Amino acid sequence: MTFHRLNPFFGHIEERYPLTKPDSSKQTWHVRINISGSELDFRVGDSIGILPKNDPLIVAQILEQLQVPADKLFNDPRTKEQYSAFQLLSARYTITHLHKKVLLKIAEYIPASLQPEFLALLDKDEDWIRVHDLSDWLQFAQNPPIPFDALLETLTPMLPRLYSIASSLLVDRERLDLTVSRLSVEAAGKTRPGICSNYLTQIAPLFDPEVGVYLQPTKHFHFPEDDLMPVILIGPGTGIAPFRAYLQERLARGSNLGTRLGSHLGKVWLFFGERHSATDFLYEDFWNKLMQLPFFRMDVAFSRDRDHKVYVQHKMWENREELLSWLDQGARVYICGDAQRMARDVEAMLLAIFQERFHGDMALAKEALKQLRKEGRYLRDVY
Ligand SMILES: Cc1cc2nc3c(=O)[nH]c(=O)nc-3n(C[C@H](O)[C@H](O)[C@H](O)COP(=O)(O)OP(=O)(O)OC[C@H]3O[C@@H](n4cnc5c(N)ncnc54)[C@H](O)[C@@H]3O)c2cc1C
Ligand SMILES: NC(=O)c1ccc[n+]([C@@H]2O[C@H](COP(=O)([O-])OP(=O)(O)OC[C@H]3O[C@@H](n4cnc5c(N)ncnc54)[C@H](OP(=O)(O)O)[C@@H]3O)[C@@H](O)[C@H]2O)c1
Repeated sequence: MTFHRLNPFFGHIEERYPLTKPDSSKQTWHVRINISGSELDFRVGDSIGILPKNDPLIVAQILEQLQVPADKLFNDPRTKEQYSAFQLLSARYTITHLHKKVLLKIAEYIPASLQPEFLALLDKDEDWIRVHDLSDWLQFAQNPPIPFDALLETLTPMLPRLYSIASSLLVDRERLDLTVSRLSVEAAGKTRPGICSNYLTQIAPLFDPEVGVYLQPTKHFHFPEDDLMPVILIGPGTGIAPFRAYLQERLARGSNLGTRLGSHLGKVWLFFGERHSATDFLYEDFWNKLMQLPFFRMDVAFSRDRDHKVYVQHKMWENREELLSWLDQGARVYICGDAQRMARDVEAMLLAIFQERFHGDMALAKEALKQLRKEGRYLRDVY
């Protein structure tokens, strides 16, 4: 059976714990989902789609503001199926990052004398508007008697979120691991958690088969089946996830190549970065064990351990001669993690390394990167 976002498999979280230490400035969690019975045939590089749920306390609060009993049944305006009011606001609709049409609908039910004050809020900037959730907006409107169905019509459906699979099916095909950064911002006087990262790490009950999942096979982030191919993996933060899966798979295959002197065949070179070595070295024990093996090399960049930032691309630059020799021997480069800043800057660094090789000629550097891409040796999964 093929599972997809409209027909997910319901797995359960079997284990979860923070990979970051309690005194870290961030929280990244290891989440293990039991998918037995699904026969999901996942490969290294694939992601899993998760159907999240909103925080039940916030849902209960909104229902109270609307004076709607949690178990009262309504038709889902999109599918026409019946659900309780609680189910609809918990799993089927978005109650954060609201569109203006929701707010305009709320405005229709406000007494005329209060309307100007409420409508004036809609002139504030986009960030201010999007930071407030449905509960806030109902409160600004003094909890007007808006019919639940009318409100539902305007809400956007809850969207699934993707997470890179951090484990190999060769190790365990009944379970898969995720590396989840628990996002949270302080805004407008409240803590505003990321919906899905909060659901996976805090809200979903353990051992309860309620976590909707489906496989999102990768179209472009495939790992070599030939273990002789040298690979360079660049994955700061949660970007480490697919690389843990790849190394698990290499170990499970019993491949321990690349020991021939001067050869990079079969070798793996991982660049990892996080904030502090003492608190944020994700899966440190696993990497320490791997570092005993001759085919594996790891360089780490802890950005906040010193008075100046050290990022993965700085480690690439320090080791540029060797990096070029790996590329000359046919290495593939994989980049995973933050798209906005990291992936852009890593690419710029790769270009700078090529540029130096070509005595400052940027056109030749760009051509070299283009060629890597063309040969399928420059692969990115960034978000
Ligand atoms: C292919 C792919 C692979 C991925 N792999 C991983 C992975 O391995 N690990 C991982 O952690 N992530 C991964 N992601 C990212 C993941 O899919 C989610 O985007 C991420 O977890 C955030 O989702 P969320 O529901 O927690 O946050 P959302 O609810 O979508 O919120 C997004 C951001 O807005 C902030 N926010 C929420 N409410 C407010 C508010 N009222 N005002 C201001 N800000 C607010 C949140 O704190 C958060 O920072 C991947 C994405 C893709 C596309
Ligand atoms: N849009 C944003 O502002 C923002 C901010 C944080 C996270 N995120 C998102 O949150 C998710 C999870 O993040 P994460 O926990 O995996 O970690 P992350 O925020 O990507 O951080 C991991 C490491 O990368 C470093 N880093 C920051 N900028 C970099 C750059 N330009 N080049 C190379 N390394 C850089 C960080 O250093 P420092 O933190 O010390 O700079 C940290 O050491 C991702 O989806 C990410 O896109 C977005």
